[in-house]
Amino acid sequence: MKKEKILVTGAGGQLGSELISGLWKYYGKENVIATDIKEPQGILSEGNFEILDVLKTSNLSALLKKNRFTQIYHLAAMLSAAGEKNPKMAWRLNMESLINVLDAAVEFKIEKVYWPSSIAVFGPSTPKVETPQHTIMDPITIYGISKQAGERWCEWYYKNHGLDVRSLRYPGIIGYKTKPGGGTTDYAVDIYWKALADKKYESFLKADTYLPMMYMPDAVKATIDLMECPKEKITIRSAYNISGMSFCPSEIASEIKKHISEFEITYLPDFRQAIADSWPKSLDDSIAQKDWGWQPEYDLKKMTNDIVKNLSV
Ligand code: SER
Repeated sequence: MKKEKILVTGAGGQLGSELISGLWKYYGKENVIATDIKEPQGILSEGNFEILDVLKTSNLSALLKKNRFTQIYHLAAMLSAAGEKNPKMAWRLNMESLINVLDAAVEFKIEKVYWPSSIAVFGPSTPKVETPQHTIMDPITIYGISKQAGERWCEWYYKNHGLDVRSLRYPGIIGYKTKPGGGTTDYAVDIYWKALADKKYESFLKADTYLPMMYMPDAVKATIDLMECPKEKITIRSAYNISGMSFCPSEIASEIKKHISEFEITYLPDFRQAIADSWPKSLDDSIAQKDWGWQPEYDLKKMTNDIVKNLSV
């Protein structure tokens, strides 16, 4: 296998904390440098780590000068619900940092760049069921607007600079290793923690709010599979729709009840309900299936078994 040298930004976030161990396994721990604006926590402190504020271009350039990276995974971003509370900062962080990374990738001849997009690129006028790859997009959150604009920037860098940048429109990602980080889909992370700790959970989304979701191991696998796909097979240079499972709060609650019979869910929707209502219920990911063989492994039942087992110990 060709030797890669990988830089990851925002590695301390929900995805980064778990993607890092996937990258270590695949490419070797010594070949991955994790960075974040905050001091490393947990597993991150076991590998190469540097503090990096991706808004500071000189710091990014210094790191790229010091190491011959072949790939950058640019994960630093502010999620949907947190972004609505701090819109200008979300825009600045999500957009400026992406452009900084794309520019630096061109300048330092980075072979491949990964940048995550999201179902938040869709909006109220988007068809909700089996949402197609190419469709109406009218995002209502700053996070979603930044992801949609980011997709256009990625495609533009590919077309105008030949930069091999790849992206996925993640559904809500559910992992149990980090606490929720300001997303709308994060209820499906929090619910497991609360179910085990308190045997009850108050949902900020209504009982029947269906959203596309994905278990973390599938998200990590999708990301590495996409990055490992031969370049000529990649037909989407904005971001691929990918699908895992789809469920609503009452369904995840019933699944948890199979393991914790006393568990009770109550509902008190807040501002995040409107965000969830603007997003798809399920996604058509047939292009990802065709181009690089995407197939998720986990459904709601299998994911719940795994999370309850791991969080209980
Ligand atoms: N999980 C994200 C959020 O809820 C969506 O990509 O903000």
